[in-house]
Amino acid sequence: MTIPVRAAITAVHGYVPPDLLTNAELAKLVDTSDAWITERTGIKERHILKGDGLGTSHMAAQAVRGLLEKTGTKPSDIDLLICATTTPDMQFPSTANLICDMVGIRDIGSFDVQAACSGFLYSLTIASQFIANGTARKIVVVGADKMSSIIDYTDRATCVLFGDGAGAVLLEPSESGYGIMDALIRSDGAGWIHLHQKAGGSRMPATPDTVDRRLHYVHQEGAAVYKYAIARMAEVAGEIMARNNLRGDMINWLVPHQANKRIIESTAERMGLPMSKVMVTINKYGNTTNATIPLCLWDYESQLKPGNKMLLAAFGGGFTWAGVYVTWAYDGAKAAKLNGHGGKNGKGG
Ligand code: ACO
Repeated sequence: MTIPVRAAITAVHGYVPPDLLTNAELAKLVDTSDAWITERTGIKERHILKGDGLGTSHMAAQAVRGLLEKTGTKPSDIDLLICATTTPDMQFPSTANLICDMVGIRDIGSFDVQAACSGFLYSLTIASQFIANGTARKIVVVGADKMSSIIDYTDRATCVLFGDGAGAVLLEPSESGYGIMDALIRSDGAGWIHLHQKAGGSRMPATPDTVDRRLHYVHQEGAAVYKYAIARMAEVAGEIMARNNLRGDMINWLVPHQANKRIIESTAERMGLPMSKVMVTINKYGNTTNATIPLCLWDYESQLKPGNKMLLAAFGGGFTWAGVYVTWAYDGAKAAKLNGHGGKNGKGG
């Protein structure tokens, strides 16, 4: 039996900016407490990108440079770069174009994918088609967001949730039977009303009035989004498991989008997985939107073994949601040791 060519993740790298914003610091800005944030979301601190003129591309370029360095890949070896982001540096050109320029990748296709928190999984799904049909051999998929640029730090319902960061993976063809085995991407545009940024686009261009009315920040109706997120994360995980004949005890890792620890726990429970098989980084990074899943892979890299069955699942604005079933393709412990990272925190979490 011939094994089909699949897109395998062959390396991962992440970047979070050095400045921290703790729950205690947020409690000085708005009427909140470490106890509320920890209990309702699982977040203790998040990283914030500071510095004039630094946008999402700055963090993404750091993650991509690290990825190329650790794999000995030359910029000229890359065939395609996709950036998943909800906080592009500019309306145009794409942040992917800017990242390529910053790391010296030229004359290839590069573009952004906008699917809010599901963007990284949408991008992986797109990238895997280019590998499977033989039109690209080395693709960089980077998820990056500077959420602090669109957060209202006077709104306690949203400002405690988000952080900044970037994570990148290298995708290459594999005939070992490992790689991206299956993927589902879904959306329901009727959900836009519950989670969006009102001004700054073509529907409501920026004016002094839109700025005065604080319309350039994330608007989220938390409880409504929470209800959908719980249902859709479990649904997409269940559908992927059913069509690949997977039971909970066959899955080594759930890699969930990190929006709220309670959503993560509920998804794991519905899949029949103990929390020891679930990647959790929300405590230290918060919700970094498109970066959450690659940052999880980076953090837990040292624990990943070839053949590990992993389910990646995300839910976000749109609404969008997605699930990707991956069998891990390389010895994460060896790779992490080689580049002296050992998993960002060894055991993750
Ligand atoms: N500190 C203290 N109290 C707060 C805070 C805070 N930071 N935020 C809200 N509260 C209060 C509210 O005002 C409310 O008070 P009231 O009862 O007096 O009115 C109370 O806490 C409960 O508010 P809820 O919004 O119902 O709180 P909930 O338990 O739902 O938690 C949260 C809020 C964390 C936002 C949750 O709803 C959530 O995680 N939603 C889903 C987020 C998500 O998945 N987003 C999608 C991805 S993001 C993207 O795509 C960009």
